[in-house]
Amino acid sequence: MRSVIFSQAGDAASVARVADVPDAPAPRADEIQLRVSLSPVHRGDLVGTEAVSLPADESRHVRLGSEAVGVVTTVGDAVCNLRVGDRVAVFPAPGAWAESVTVPAEAAVNVPETVSDEIASILLVNTITSRDVLRAVSDLRGTTATVDDTPLVVSAAASAVGKLVVRQALDRRWPVIAVVRSDRSAATVRKLFPDVPVVVTGNDGWQGELRGSCWCEAAAGHRRCSRWRFRTGDPAVPRRRGNPGRVG
Ligand SMILES: NC(=O)c1ccc[n+]([C@@H]2O[C@H](COP(=O)([O-])OP(=O)(O)OC[C@H]3O[C@@H](n4cnc5c(N)ncnc54)[C@H](OP(=O)(O)O)[C@@H]3O)[C@@H](O)[C@H]2O)c1
Repeated sequence: MRSVIFSQAGDAASVARVADVPDAPAPRADEIQLRVSLSPVHRGDLVGTEAVSLPADESRHVRLGSEAVGVVTTVGDAVCNLRVGDRVAVFPAPGAWAESVTVPAEAAVNVPETVSDEIASILLVNTITSRDVLRAVSDLRGTTATVDDTPLVVSAAASAVGKLVVRQALDRRWPVIAVVRSDRSAATVRKLFPDVPVVVTGNDGWQGELRGSCWCEAAAGHRRCSRWRFRTGDPAVPRRRGNPGRVG
């Protein structure tokens, strides 16, 4: 079968190549094999080629990829929650940039029909990462005196992970400030989160704007803020940008 592999350490753009490799191994009792439909390119997949030690076996190569969506083709004897023909998202799935891959059944999640392959292929890594970020932030917030008022500044807010972090922070009613590099990325964030202040680091004076936004967000719910209006009683979630009003 075909797979993207590398056989020497270095920049992924230089060392990764498509090659014919032996088929994915037959699943053991607690594993499944799937035919890969789509597998995303994560930054982690690419940086991994620079430092990894190559296997000592005769293959001398590593198969790239870590997450995928596909259709189950073989099921190990001990697997009872998945069947041949199921469409599943898998992570971790080392070697997912291949026509098929074998993974522990516990790394697979059934995908509903309403979810496209494109979405399903990035269902797990980014959401697990954003959940871990939110947990870490939650622990930090629990140790500060200004628990509800400290704004969360999300850099690279237009990234896949950034958008999930912003969404989950708002769901927790934390005040959020999004930081991006360009007006184009700012537009992406504003379309999804019209109430979130966005600071563009490509614009002059962004540092002052960020400081001002932090103050404004921290003040929300307690003091008058001249730039955003907040719903009375809401801990600090901004309601509408550019609509000055009284703060609760
Ligand atoms: N488990 C993990 O540890 C894990 C899992 C997944 C992702 N990640 C990490 O999370 C980050 C985001 O991943 P993703 O897949 O969500 O990324 P993505 O959707 O590809 O977006 C990349 C983002 O990085 C920003 N960016 C690129 N170069 C930058 C620079 N020099 N300074 C500031 N911002 C820069 C871009 O900002 P603009 O939009 O402003 O251009 C863009 O929003 C990456 O660092 C990735 O390695 C970690």
